[in-house]
Amino acid sequence: MDDRQARDVLYAGASGLVGGLALPALLERAAAEGFRVYAVVRRPLALKHPSLHPIQADLGAADGLADAAQQLRAADVQLQVLVCALGTTLRQAGSAAAFAAIDRDLVVALAQLARAQGATQALVVSSVGAQAGSRNLYLRVKGEMEAQISALGFTRVDFLHPGLLLGQRNGPPRPGEGIAQALAPLFNPLLIGPLRRYGAISARSVAAAVVALCGEPGSGISRISNRQIQALAG
Ligand SMILES: NC(=O)c1ccc[n+]([C@@H]2O[C@H](COP(=O)([O-])OP(=O)(O)OC[C@H]3O[C@@H](n4cnc5c(N)ncnc54)[C@H](OP(=O)(O)O)[C@@H]3O)[C@@H](O)[C@H]2O)c1
Repeated sequence: MDDRQARDVLYAGASGLVGGLALPALLERAAAEGFRVYAVVRRPLALKHPSLHPIQADLGAADGLADAAQQLRAADVQLQVLVCALGTTLRQAGSAAAFAAIDRDLVVALAQLARAQGATQALVVSSVGAQAGSRNLYLRVKGEMEAQISALGFTRVDFLHPGLLLGQRNGPPRPGEGIAQALAPLFNPLLIGPLRRYGAISARSVAAAVVALCGEPGSGISRISNRQIQALAG
């Protein structure tokens, strides 16, 4: 029987912009502090590291989550934290229902899986403006996801609330995002005081905040704004 303290991390979104930027720094911490990072991925990751343990599963398939859960059990994982930077776009998903199935249902299902395997902290990249009652689909889905995760019994929940993410993507181009990113330097300086939370923010800062918050002690549900993300990122 392994007598290590439960400190391992279940990591979702490793192939994404924020998830890909946060992973190397989290792995450095993992190596120094002696925990393991279990990354649930659909395709193999190019990154290899002694503390990185890929869990390859097709999360879109009917038995994808059960497959991931089975692999975690077989690895005798001692989870402390779920880190989730998973999400899609309405355009990629193809419909509102398909978008909600990923950005709400899949994220909640991963949180349930992590909770069932002992995780006490959920650290989820959500969005500024997330609100279950919103008329905007994206913000409503993010808000519903937050409400459902908040009810799962984690000791500590951190929802990061970044504005528009600035950074270089590998995947298919996102025309709207490209235009918004180009305009961000013009609009960001106009957002002062409480409006700063709606400004664009570097994906690198969000990633650094994820790494800083992972495994932090304490309890309760926090929503972390652009300003707080910048402070955490140093
Ligand atoms: N873009 C913005 O400006 C913005 C602003 C505020 C908040 N956010 C939120 O921040 C989070 C991170 O954003 P990001 O831009 O870093 O994400 P991203 O680059 O689009 O990466 C998304 C991640 O989710 C995974 N994923 C998507 N659909 C999946 C599915 N059906 N099954 C399994 N995995 C799936 C992707 O895996 P694959 O590589 O396998 O597809 C990838 O690892 C998202 O929740 C996003 O909504 C974004």
